[in-house]
Amino acid sequence: MNMMKHFLDIHTTDAAELRHMIDTGLAMKRARGGRPKGAPDDDQPLKGHMVALIFEKPSTRTRVSFDVGVRQMGGETMVLSGKEMQLGHGETIADTARVLSRYVDLIMIRTFEEQTLLEMAEHATVPVINGLTNRTHPCQIMADVMTYEEHRGPIKDRKVVWSGDGNNVFASFAHAAGQFGFDLTFSGPETLNPEAACLDFAAAKGRPVTIERDPFKAMAGADLVVTDTWVSMHDPESAKERRHNQLRAYQVNEHLMSLAKPDSLFMHCLPAHRNDEVTSAVMDGPHSVIFDEAENRLHAQKAVMRWCLGR
Ligand code: CP
Repeated sequence: MNMMKHFLDIHTTDAAELRHMIDTGLAMKRARGGRPKGAPDDDQPLKGHMVALIFEKPSTRTRVSFDVGVRQMGGETMVLSGKEMQLGHGETIADTARVLSRYVDLIMIRTFEEQTLLEMAEHATVPVINGLTNRTHPCQIMADVMTYEEHRGPIKDRKVVWSGDGNNVFASFAHAAGQFGFDLTFSGPETLNPEAACLDFAAAKGRPVTIERDPFKAMAGADLVVTDTWVSMHDPESAKERRHNQLRAYQVNEHLMSLAKPDSLFMHCLPAHRNDEVTSAVMDGPHSVIFDEAENRLHAQKAVMRWCLGR
């Protein structure tokens, strides 16, 4: 029986299966017991498997964490840039998906348009994983949920506050609010509101996102504070000054963090622009778990890959 499954988004994946992936990732992390990064896992679920990692946008964490994760599980990778592939020179996504499926066992793609991801998944006969599109970043939020639970226990019914741009990372947080059952507050300017579709999903799941324009009020009772860069990879450079002006009031600094719960955590998917969306004092301060969060990309994605391959 073919157990292949795509991991395209948090809202399109069954909630119980998401929970299983988080628990599996944490168990796999613990089982490694701090051995060297290059050491293999005890079990080798990807032994003999080849994984294609396609990047149409820059990446540090996604690229390295997928590459290392595959190797720890016994597989091999090839990293491809969109520019170097025929994908960028007129070959259809459907044909690319069919061809790659003859060579590799799994495809991870970071791309611009969600449609590219969806077409790849429609025509591939191997699992496809969303490594970020302009609309969502599900692997990041799987790592974020794992990181919260590793430090503070179940995220269910906790209050998560997003301060800043309603971007693709926020959209996956809204999907996660619905699937994992936490309360999410968006605090940012109306001009940078999240897409309605992700808010509708959370509401339909019984976790409507609270919109609070006042960043100081938003922080009351926060268990987790999250922000992201003010200018995303797909935003034009010309938008920088306007976005900075719109978002300055939402900078996460020590004063803002002091309004959250005393044991609150701070997360940022990185890369960060220190002293723009978050101050260095917060990034390097007692609430911050940003480097655990980055590490957990590795462990969460290993669980995602196992799930995709039915292992
Ligand atoms: N957070 C994240 O996706 O990082 P990269 O862009 O470096 O992959």
